[in-house]
Amino acid sequence: LEAAGRSGALAGRSVVVSAGGTREPIDPVRFVGNRSSGAMGVALASAARAAGATVTLVGANLHVPAPAGVELVEVETTAQLREAMLERASADVVVMAAAVADYRVRGAADEKRSKESWGDAPTIELELNPDILAELAGLPRDGLLVGFGAETEADDAALVERGRAKLARKGADLLVLNRVGHDEGFGPVETRVRVLDADGVVADASGAKASVARAIIDCVAQRLAGTTS
Ligand code: CTP
Ligand code: CA
Repeated sequence: LEAAGRSGALAGRSVVVSAGGTREPIDPVRFVGNRSSGAMGVALASAARAAGATVTLVGANLHVPAPAGVELVEVETTAQLREAMLERASADVVVMAAAVADYRVRGAADEKRSKESWGDAPTIELELNPDILAELAGLPRDGLLVGFGAETEADDAALVERGRAKLARKGADLLVLNRVGHDEGFGPVETRVRVLDADGVVADASGAKASVARAIIDCVAQRLAGTTS
């Protein structure tokens, strides 16, 4: 199974990967966002392509280029990402690797705010965004749904426990758990992930994002093996 991600294990399968971080407008020139570069999702799209899948990358404000041979759908906001994912929910594999803004700005302005209109101590009010992964999990589907969980939890057992709770709450089939900090998990550094299903940890991989992505895709391919394409 070592070579599964490199030898057509996903031939004939459709894979949709969301990547990057959504941005929520404050006004036409300002946004609330996050530090996600999209590198992990892009690496997954690349690994899925190398395994023979037809891949769509739904990219939210990517800091890295999309891989060759992959269809790129660009989005900016969570609402746009949600729309793009719901349209493609019937794919054989759907991966939510994007860092979705949990909140959007309430009453975003259509015109640029000026200091005159905003005053000396403005406040930005936020409201909850829809949970795209949970929504995808609630749809009737035959495909495999993979979520991500970024946690800052330092204790290992507690980290996995948090991941299991998140997987159960979301209703996805697999959850890729990674620990993040100020320089862990974001950007081109070493990554360690655990892949969880409802029964526990099914894979553990660390290294460069490309090799971690291959391990995740191997895991996905194993799950799909035995189901018809
Ligand atoms: N996610 C999503 N829609 C949201 C928030 C998150 O689809 N509005 C997805 C992410 O793409 C990821 C998974 O849910 O695959 C977990 O994201 P995470 O931020 O770890 O979980 P949250 O449920 O947002 O919990 P937290 O309050 O810890 O941020
Ligand atoms: Ca979140």
